[in-house]
Amino acid sequence: MLPLNQMLNNNNHILEAKEFSHSFGAVKALTNASLALKKNEVMGLVGDNGAGKSTLLKILSGIIPLSTGKVYIEGKLQNFRSAQDALDAGIETVYQDLALVDSMNAFQNVYLGREEISSNPIAKLLRLVDDKKMREKSKEILESLAVKIPSVNGNVKSMSGGQRQCLAIARALMWKRNIVILDEPTAALGVQETEQVLELIKDLKSHNVSVIVVSHNMQHIMAVCDRVTIMRLGSTIATRDIKNTEISEIVGLITGAILEENKKN
Ligand SMILES: Nc1ncnc2c1ncn2[C@@H]1O[C@H](COP(=O)(O)OP(=O)(O)OP(=O)(O)O)[C@@H](O)[C@H]1O
Ligand SMILES: [Mg+2]
Repeated sequence: MLPLNQMLNNNNHILEAKEFSHSFGAVKALTNASLALKKNEVMGLVGDNGAGKSTLLKILSGIIPLSTGKVYIEGKLQNFRSAQDALDAGIETVYQDLALVDSMNAFQNVYLGREEISSNPIAKLLRLVDDKKMREKSKEILESLAVKIPSVNGNVKSMSGGQRQCLAIARALMWKRNIVILDEPTAALGVQETEQVLELIKDLKSHNVSVIVVSHNMQHIMAVCDRVTIMRLGSTIATRDIKNTEISEIVGLITGAILEENKKN
């Protein structure tokens, strides 16, 4: 057991990644990468291809075991051994390939793998799923979001990419995760769908959710984020308030045309 002062970190941050280092064989994917997410903020994570963004996020979602570094949630040191540990700690990650089940309808997908057991004792015994309760709760959540899904009974196969992305994000709210990680949520979407997803990301704040979003699109980053952290060659080199920066500065930091610094802040 660690002493209390080593277990507790800055409580203003809902999530902290501290000094992550990670190698895949000879490839150093992360070197001392750190990131701190405040409550109810949207933090952008940007960097060139291979800068280490997905690796950092995979560690935060328990998919890649942490070899060097620390994860804190609300100041409390975590020890993720699996993706389930991260989910249990309140972190929901939405990947581009989403893992929605096409043969199921929207509400079944929202409940995927975590079906509510009917309160009827016999049904409970048989582990029957209470469809009605599931449908109502999914409907409630989906209706509370900025983006509308046509019908919770509709097959997800017939939904647009944007609606599917929104559905996956709705899952996070359903399970009361308070941290949502989105790795390139708009990369495969059309213009209108992209707008829907960006709207939903902004809306998450009003649901008490803090968000980390990776994107290569600087306009999207400027539109939805409160702050942005820039990664370069496996390291987090700078964090900026969106209102105190501009795209040219972010791009300069990404490419190395603007050298960070620590001197500047
Ligand atoms: N499973 C893996 N096995 C080996 N090397 C990997 C693996 N995953 C990532 N890497 C390497 O680690 C480095 C960081 O990759 P990562 O996927 O984190 O980058 P990224 O910033 O998400 O890039 P992109 O913007 O292209 O998604 C890269 O050099 C990549 O080739
Ligand atoms: Mg990536």
